[in-house]
Amino acid sequence: MAIKLNNGFKMPIIGLGVWRMDGKDVKNLILNAIKIGYRHFDSAAFYQNEAEVGVALAEAIQTGLVKREDLFITTKLWSSDHGHVHEACKDSLKQLQLDYLDLYLVHLPVATKHTGVGTTASTLDEDGVLDIDTTLSLETVWHAMEDLVSMGLARSIGISNYDLFLTRDCLAYSKIKPAVNQIETHPYFQRESLVKFCHKHGICVTAHTPLGGAAANTEWFGSVSCLDDPVLKGLAKKHQKTVAQISLRWGIQRNTIVIPKSSKLERLKENFLVQDFELTEDDMEQIKSIDRKYRTHQTAKFWGIDVYG
Ligand SMILES: NC(=O)c1ccc[n+]([C@@H]2O[C@H](COP(=O)([O-])OP(=O)(O)OC[C@H]3O[C@@H](n4cnc5c(N)ncnc54)[C@H](OP(=O)(O)O)[C@@H]3O)[C@@H](O)[C@H]2O)c1
Repeated sequence: MAIKLNNGFKMPIIGLGVWRMDGKDVKNLILNAIKIGYRHFDSAAFYQNEAEVGVALAEAIQTGLVKREDLFITTKLWSSDHGHVHEACKDSLKQLQLDYLDLYLVHLPVATKHTGVGTTASTLDEDGVLDIDTTLSLETVWHAMEDLVSMGLARSIGISNYDLFLTRDCLAYSKIKPAVNQIETHPYFQRESLVKFCHKHGICVTAHTPLGGAAANTEWFGSVSCLDDPVLKGLAKKHQKTVAQISLRWGIQRNTIVIPKSSKLERLKENFLVQDFELTEDDMEQIKSIDRKYRTHQTAKFWGIDVYG
C-alpha cells in the first residue's frame, strides 16, 4: 500500500526507521526487512549510519533482491548544514551509494552552528544551550531544497518537525510545495489539527516515533510509552494483535505513513503485518480518547533548551 504524494510519486505507507540502529546491525536488518517486504527506509545524516545503510542498499540492488525503482529512500538535512544544502545532499547520496533520493527533508526547522558538511554536530554554547544560528531563514533553506529537484538529486522534498505556523509559512514562500511533513505523532500525541491542516493542503504526513519511541524514548528522555496503555491493550486482545500493531494500524487508518524502528527481526515482521486487519470506527474513537498531547522528544535534556518551546 502506498500514498500518492502531491507530485504524483508514491510513498509506501510503512517504512523502516533507522535512528539508533547500531551500524554493525544495519546491513543484516535492512536486507531482512527487504525480504519481509519493506521498500521504504527512513534515514538521516544525523543518525550517523547512512554509510551502513548505503552498503545494505547496494548489496540488495546488486544481488537482485530489489530494484532501485522499487525502493523509497528518505534522508534528511541536519540543522548544522542549513547553509550548505546542496553539499549536504550530495554527501548523503554518496554515503547511501545512490544517485537520487526519493525524499529529502529539512530535519528540524532550526539552523545551528555549521561544523563541516555531514558532521551533524549539535554544538552547545558556553551556557550549555544549543548554538542556534539566527542568520539563516527557513525560506532560504527551502529555495536551496527546491534546487535539488531540478538538479535531479531528490524526487520529492519535504519538511520535518514543522508546526502548523511554520508549515503555513512554507506553503506561502515555496515554489515547490512540501510533499511531506514528518512529525512526531502516536496515540499519546495525535496532533489532529496539524495532521488535518497538512492533509487539506496536500502535504502527506509521516508519523515519526509511531510507537511513542517505546523503550528507547523511556531510556533517552524518561518518557511514558503508549505501548502500556490499557485501551490499546484491550484493542490488541480484541483483534488478536500486539499493541504495537494496533498503534501502527491506527496511524495508517488516519492516512499517515508510519516508520517504526526495530533492531529485532521478529519485530520487523510484526510491525509490517498490519495490513491484514481493520480497526472499526468505534476502535478509532476509543484511541482518539487516549490522546495526552504528549511529546516524547524532550530536547532540553541534551540541548539545554526545548526547541519546540
Ligand atoms: N524527523 C525526526 O525528527 C525524527 C525523530 C524521531 C524519529 N524519526 C524517525 O522515526 C523512526 C521511528 O522512531 P523511533 O525509532 O524514535 O521510535 P519508535 O519507532 O516509535 O519506537 C522505537 C522503539 O520501539 C521498540 N519497538 C519496535 N517495534 C516494537 C514492537 N513491535 N513492540 C515493542 N517495542 C517495539 C524499539 O526497540 P527495538 O529496536 O529493540 O525493537 C525501540 O525501542 C526513527 O527510526 C527515525 O527514522 C524521525
